[in-house]
Amino acid sequence: MSVLEDLETLHREAEGRLAAAHTLAEVDQVRIDYLGRKGALTAMLRGMGALPPEQRPAAGKRANEVRAALEAALERRQNEVAAEETLTRLEAERLDVTLPGRHWRLGGRHPIEIVLADARASLVGMGFEVLDSGPEVETFRYNFGVLNYPEDHPALDEQDTFYITDEVLLRTQTSGMQVRTMERRQPPLKVAVPGRCYRREVVTATHSHTFHQVEGFLVDRHVTFGDLYGTLAQFARDMFGPDTRVRLRPDYFPFTEPSADYSVTCTFCHGGGCRLCKESGWIELGGCGMIHPHVLQNAGYDTEVWNGYAFGLGVDRIAQVRYGINDIRLLAENDMQFLEQF
Ligand code: DAH
Repeated sequence: MSVLEDLETLHREAEGRLAAAHTLAEVDQVRIDYLGRKGALTAMLRGMGALPPEQRPAAGKRANEVRAALEAALERRQNEVAAEETLTRLEAERLDVTLPGRHWRLGGRHPIEIVLADARASLVGMGFEVLDSGPEVETFRYNFGVLNYPEDHPALDEQDTFYITDEVLLRTQTSGMQVRTMERRQPPLKVAVPGRCYRREVVTATHSHTFHQVEGFLVDRHVTFGDLYGTLAQFARDMFGPDTRVRLRPDYFPFTEPSADYSVTCTFCHGGGCRLCKESGWIELGGCGMIHPHVLQNAGYDTEVWNGYAFGLGVDRIAQVRYGINDIRLLAENDMQFLEQF
């Protein structure tokens, strides 16, 4: 077989492989196999010198033509394949902009969180320093002991409190933060502490074993019951609107003397009487009073100099009243349909 025939065979073969190449890598492999340093055509070009002298000019000319033709064919095929690849990619990435969008279900702020944020804002506005909630697992000492509870007080009973050991329990109220805070600081102080509390209750529409309180207390010189009243009245207006009125009635708590319960005019009937306020016109939100001297003494404060007031607010109750939630179990269930409303 002559060199010229070999060249034609090689050319046809190379064109055939190019036509079958469908990726840029395959096209490049054809270039390497024929025109690369160890390529078939390169080898033939190198072998020209070994041909008989009369064949050299024609073979050399043809070999160069084949090389030029192959180079052109490679470039053409490379462009075609690049275009094919782009098309395939675009097809794969095709986006149907007419498809309806996906609905992302957004939760809402939990009503307890909204109330707590508003309560914080109101109290900070009146100069309270709002502290972190403190430990939910509390000692008997802070939850009851230093708060002047008599030994036979029913709250100490296992029926009412979740005890972990004789000395450790789930706090039943945020009031334990009073002496905890006083011990770490010196008066005067004006502090509010929101927090979660636990009591051994059967869960019903109106009671739960888990609930939230905000404890507020002030220790200073010459604090009066009027200061307490003014603070709670302002808090009620901030939380429920400017027309809200406050009622304090005598009550008993071991850690305050005198003590009172704290109610606001019903936000639904404005005092006229409705189902929410059980026809009384008032909604009870918590307790309050002047801090008992024993409590201040348990914190090491000199009661000749310092006195103070304290209050505890039921946060779940406030959320219930504000949003007309008739079953407090809804506050714990985290049902999206319920939460999305707030
Ligand atoms: N800790 C009381 C309770 O859970 C509420 C309370 C009453 C808090 C009077 C106080 C207070 O700070 O002075 O029922």
